[in-house]
Amino acid sequence: DDSVKDPQALKQTEVFGHRGWSAKYPENTMASFIAALEIGVDGLEFDVHLSKDGEIIVIHDANLSRTTNGQGYVEDHTVEQLRKLDAGSWFDKNFGGQVIPTLDEVLELASLQPRKVKLNIELKLGRAPYAGLGDKVWQKVCSCGLMNETIISSFNHFALRDLKQIHKDANIAILYQEGLVDPWRYAMFLKAEGLHPHYQTFDESVVRGSHAMGTSIRPYTVNDVSKMNELLTWGVDAIITDHPDVLLAVRARR
Ligand code: G3P
Ligand code: CA
Repeated sequence: DDSVKDPQALKQTEVFGHRGWSAKYPENTMASFIAALEIGVDGLEFDVHLSKDGEIIVIHDANLSRTTNGQGYVEDHTVEQLRKLDAGSWFDKNFGGQVIPTLDEVLELASLQPRKVKLNIELKLGRAPYAGLGDKVWQKVCSCGLMNETIISSFNHFALRDLKQIHKDANIAILYQEGLVDPWRYAMFLKAEGLHPHYQTFDESVVRGSHAMGTSIRPYTVNDVSKMNELLTWGVDAIITDHPDVLLAVRARR
């Protein structure tokens, strides 16, 4: 019986809202995070950059033009300038009041929840990697007492290594799209708590291999119901989705 060999697979797979509830709300806004929390997600995934004056800013792209009415790079604007931008109208004019959140606001939101909420904070890059971004993020997480609930991920594995060198207790997860053989060995090497693969780049053997090493596996970005069901059967630790409402319903029906 496989379940006996893999006790991690017996735990309930967690639902992580990708950029909040990004299918229905403007991604990476407080409206998106609050709505995801209200339907009962286990965790929120979101992305961070640094402003010109060193504030940690919650936005996906390095450039402002897709999701705000601003232009140019996040890193060329002060937090005061960034906070004046409209981060909702691009999605729907009814969300015109949404602004770009700071990490502080999202940490406060999570701290105020009556239940424990997991946070998956993804370190992004500007024109170049931001020096010390992981360190700054982890210090804020610690000051809010959210260390046990937080996972720092990145496609920039150097940033994860640097963070781990400064904060040995930081939970890091390796984001990857393809090309890792026996990825759990790489996770052991980087002392990563988890692997966050693109959902098309792995199979059930990677779940078993990872779990045998005590490594968590949380694929992204899964919006297809049949894939959700397959991953639930494999017993992945979490699924990151734009449609947390759908995944919650799929999980509840099983
Ligand atoms: O964390 C998973 C996923 O968010 C990574 O890709 O581009 O959506 O940030 P992206
Ligand atoms: Ca992300």
